[in-house]
Amino acid sequence: MALNYQSVDFVKVLGERRSCRFYDPDRPVEAEKVQAICQAARNASHMGNANCITLTIVEDQATKDKFTEIVSAFNIPMAKMAPVSIVFALNRDLWYNGLPKGLPELFKMGGINPSHGWSMDNIENTTLPRLTSFPPEVVSYLLSCETGMAMASAQLMATALGLGSCCYAGQGPKIAEVLGFPESAQFVWAMAIGYPGESVESMGWRPRSPYGDIIYKEKFGTPAVADPAVDAELESLGMMGAPSALTPERLADINKAAEQMGLPTRTDENG
Ligand SMILES: Cc1cc2nc3c(=O)[nH]c(=O)nc-3n(C[C@H](O)[C@H](O)[C@H](O)COP(=O)(O)O)c2cc1C
Repeated sequence: MALNYQSVDFVKVLGERRSCRFYDPDRPVEAEKVQAICQAARNASHMGNANCITLTIVEDQATKDKFTEIVSAFNIPMAKMAPVSIVFALNRDLWYNGLPKGLPELFKMGGINPSHGWSMDNIENTTLPRLTSFPPEVVSYLLSCETGMAMASAQLMATALGLGSCCYAGQGPKIAEVLGFPESAQFVWAMAIGYPGESVESMGWRPRSPYGDIIYKEKFGTPAVADPAVDAELESLGMMGAPSALTPERLADINKAAEQMGLPTRTDENG
């Protein structure tokens, strides 16, 4: 059993990750690749090492059929096409019950240390009572960041394995019901996984805000300056490149995939 990494250069993986919205529905995702993606999410950073994030793999046709009905309308074709969806949720119970285990463990194994002011006394009598007194809405807010970290790791692993992926929204309460979540678990986001039905090359790099518009130095709003030589090197390593455009190649790629799936095609940038 081999994972067959398509791309093991981490910088290139960062550059190749793309939100893929067409998948080959007839090419299943190997079980070992799904496992590797889930392990990447599990290995992401967790607050206090409480491990509050859950992933539910949706793969069987019966579950998929029910699930596809309750995702946001624009995401239905993607949910149908992708052989696998992973549903990311946070579980607040794992915060309230996991922190009292995770934090002392971190201390005992030398992850957090007296050098930084940590002690068992401080953990048991100050930190844990404070963190576990947070109301559920605050815990959900904190854990949604943690879920995002797990999702990012999962997406990068999928890319490294030659798979496409895309985060997608759905109707949280209904998803929770269909997948049998306990009261303390909250749907955060779903992720489609499958072999791409559109090419990464034709997608180009989706535009981002200019560097200095969102990256500041010392003070909010004071633009940080990007060194063009660094950017050139990142470009040569495959992390950045030509921005996305609706070129004839891109149009042909989208329409081929859409036609194969019996979905509407488009003619130009206006539709
Ligand atoms: C948290 C999150 C939620 C998203 N939700 C959706 C979604 O519901 N449907 C969708 O088609 N794309 C969704 N996307 C994908 C973004 O729209 C996508 O990132 C954007 O088009 C930029 O493209 P790129 O990811 O290829 O760089 C989501 C992305 C993130 C990070």
